[in-house]
Amino acid sequence: MSYKIQVFKGDGIGPEVIGEALQVLKLAARRSGVVMEFREAPLGGHSIDLHGTPLTDEALKQAQESEAILLGAVGGPKWDNPKSEQRPEQALLRLRKELGLFANVRPVRVIKELVAASPLKAEVVTGVDLMVIRELTGGLYYGKPSERRQVNGQREAVDTCLYSEEEIRRVLRFAFELARERRRRLVSVDKANVLSCSRLWREIALEVSAEFKDVSFESQLVDSMAMHLLRRPRDFDVIVTENMFGDILTDEAALLAGSLGLLPSASIGTEFNNAGFRMGLFEPIHGTAPDIAGRDEANPLGAIMSVALLLEYSLGMHAEAELVRNAVELVLRDGYRTRDINVGPATTLVSCSAMGRLVRERIELLGAE
Ligand code: IPM
Ligand code: MN
Repeated sequence: MSYKIQVFKGDGIGPEVIGEALQVLKLAARRSGVVMEFREAPLGGHSIDLHGTPLTDEALKQAQESEAILLGAVGGPKWDNPKSEQRPEQALLRLRKELGLFANVRPVRVIKELVAASPLKAEVVTGVDLMVIRELTGGLYYGKPSERRQVNGQREAVDTCLYSEEEIRRVLRFAFELARERRRRLVSVDKANVLSCSRLWREIALEVSAEFKDVSFESQLVDSMAMHLLRRPRDFDVIVTENMFGDILTDEAALLAGSLGLLPSASIGTEFNNAGFRMGLFEPIHGTAPDIAGRDEANPLGAIMSVALLLEYSLGMHAEAELVRNAVELVLRDGYRTRDINVGPATTLVSCSAMGRLVRERIELLGAE
């Protein structure tokens, strides 16, 4: 059995961080004797330059045939023209939809050594360990109509928020199942005091909660949730919400951990792969950071932690995933930092490639124990 892994390095710092992450994944394959076949294709701006489209049909087909996808980031000033027909972000939206990647998992764990990197007070963020599950293929991002039009000589624009009960139910079940593996607490976030979509969301959340009596459950309004996340982030275990609210809340939650550069994400699909798990797309949550692209200064840990999620969710290689996570934590404990998290006196500033190498050395050491 051989697993196909689709690699989209993308734009900006994407190739640098994915280069390091890919070596970690290859190491995990070698160590465990699992055969992985890697296929690469351009994505986003890079693909626009080469093929005139952010995602070619061929690249999409390769992705569909794979067990999992490892992705850097897409976009950059070169392709920023809002009037342009071809935008890098369309590649992501199309991949999510075509692959049925309905659940976006964004874990936020504050590592003790990095508490000082957060702009929030140490006593607020110490010990934070939460997970946001964002619905990824519905809501405002995909509802039709979504267009600009001319009405009575005025420009107007419309977007549509649409959710079916099945779309809501499957992501809620996914979140409840995750909560069951963790501290058994789930908060569902909506705007049920105003929006019909949110009222349906809340109704279904309550129905699904009856299937998971062992998980404590509550619904929260998104505006007050935005506040609670900063005021008492430690109280949360798993948070589930719709697409747009999840987009906003996850950037906010990322701030708890200090640097976007550390955080991974997983987008989990409806399809089961040849490994017997759900196919998924794994990417760091940071963007392309064009200002430091090509300088070997980026933080590869978000991409490397995404490899840990890939091993766990799409390949079921839990021991290897744990090894990667432990190695990352130890390297940070030893004081190694990339520029974005260079805090505290007893630290050593390292490059992107050096950080990747340190993690791999740690994996080999830990694995040999
Ligand atoms: C994210 C990003 C994307 C989103 C953009 C780039 C389309 O912000 O993954 O959070 O809004 O989903
Ligand atoms: Mn976002």
